[in-house]
Parts: sequence; C-alpha cells; structure tokens
Amino acid sequence: MYNIIPDLDLIGFGKLQKSGKIIFLLLVYSAYSASSAVNKFLSMKKLVIASNNPGKLREIKELLAPLKIEVVPQSSFNIPEADEPHANFMENALNKARHASRCSGLPALADDSGICVDVLNGGPGVLSARYAGEPKSDERNNLKLLQVLHSTTDRKAHYYCVLVLVRHADDPQPLIAEAQWQGEILHEPRGNNGFGYDPLFYLPQLGKTAAELPPEMKNQISHRGKALALLAQKLREEIN
Ligand code: IMP
Repeated sequence: MYNIIPDLDLIGFGKLQKSGKIIFLLLVYSAYSASSAVNKFLSMKKLVIASNNPGKLREIKELLAPLKIEVVPQSSFNIPEADEPHANFMENALNKARHASRCSGLPALADDSGICVDVLNGGPGVLSARYAGEPKSDERNNLKLLQVLHSTTDRKAHYYCVLVLVRHADDPQPLIAEAQWQGEILHEPRGNNGFGYDPLFYLPQLGKTAAELPPEMKNQISHRGKALALLAQKLREEIN
C-alpha cells in the first residue's frame, strides 16, 4: 500500500503501520491532488476567447466580468481562425476551443452560434457567418436572408448558441452550455445595436428587434446570455 504513495515514504511516513492512519493519509493525499488540479485551472485566471468576431467578444467579455476571469481574445496571440468543417454547432465549437487552447497554452472558450429559420429547415445555421459568401458581411447576409424569405409568411426563427470551455487542449471533459432565443425575421432591418442578424431578429413580446435592445437587456435574454449564465454556474460548481 505504501508503494503507491512514494512521496509519503520519502518524508518518513513509511513507518506508519496502522491501516486507519494509512487510509486517512490516502484521503488527505487525494483531496490535495483534486484541489490542486482545480486551483491550477483557477490560478490562471485567464481565458482565451476563440473568436475574432468583435460583437461576440464584446458580449462575452461583459457577461464574464462578474467571474473576475481575465478574458483575452485569440487575436492577442495571433491565433488564426480555426476551421468550422462540421454540420453542427457543437463540434465546430469544440474544434475552435481546442485550437485556441493548443495555440495559447491557456484554457479557452469558444462560441459557435447562428440563426436558424424554420422554413429553411434550420438554415442558415452553421453557415450564418458566411451565408452570402466570402468575405463575411453582416449587411450582405441580412440582404440575402430578406431575399430568400421574400414571399414567405412563416417568419419563425431562433438564434442558437453553444459554448465550449476546455481547461487544456486535450481536455476530455469540456464544460458545455447551450441555449436558444426565439423570434421572427422582420421584412426590413431596424435598430443599430448588436451585430449580425440582430436588425432583422424581431421579438414579438417586446415589439422590438434585437438591434433595438440596450446591450444589457440583450445580454440578459439572448441565446449567448443564457448559455453563458449556464456556463458560469458550471464554473462556480467547479470552483466550490
Ligand atoms: P460563428 O462565428 O461561426 O459562430 O458565426 C456566428 C454567426 O451567427 C455570426 O457571424 C452572426 O451572423 C450570427 N449570430 C450569432 N449570434 C448572433 C447574435 O447574437 N446576433 C446576431 N447574429 C448572430
């Protein structure tokens, strides 16, 4: 039994004979190992955000501020954008998080999100950022969506967001949180706040588009805001 804790032998505990004492020492040792693993993650206090999208970065920074974790965009490390080869948000987010963590050597958080329109079978979905082709343009994406939905009366849509946080590049247990935000696609853009499809994303209960909401309000009710609240809860559970 002593052989599996050689460090304890080194400091003279090899003379202990009673099994009760040995079990106690094993418990102390494993509690110490577990807490130091968590502390190692927390002591970094720095999280790389695997995105170059200024709108996303601003929202994520605001939403994580209460956790007192320093949030650094991947551009600070000159990390190029990761590929998004998958047909689903989850795998793309995981890919982005691992890529940013591998390049920076830090824990990394990725957001993969998009707008999903009912009559388009959930499209543009994972293609939201590049819906109107390269180079990425919010304005051209919005115009294309209006054209595609030109003669459609069913305008139901939702934003979807999945967040993936990896403590290190090969983390086998990433923290994952997802959320949706229901709305409709308007017939013309309204409002100047937010980014992406926000000027077209209409919230019937509020009588406003997402781009007409004050940023604090969008952060409270949006897909990203809700997913970040869930992720923050998981982080707190890990800390406590
Ligand atoms: P990603 O960087 O591949 O996750 O692309 C996300 C894209 O989805 C953005 O470029 C926007 O077009 C759209 N999107 C995601 N979240 C929002 C939002 O909160 N408001 C507006 N558009 C969003």
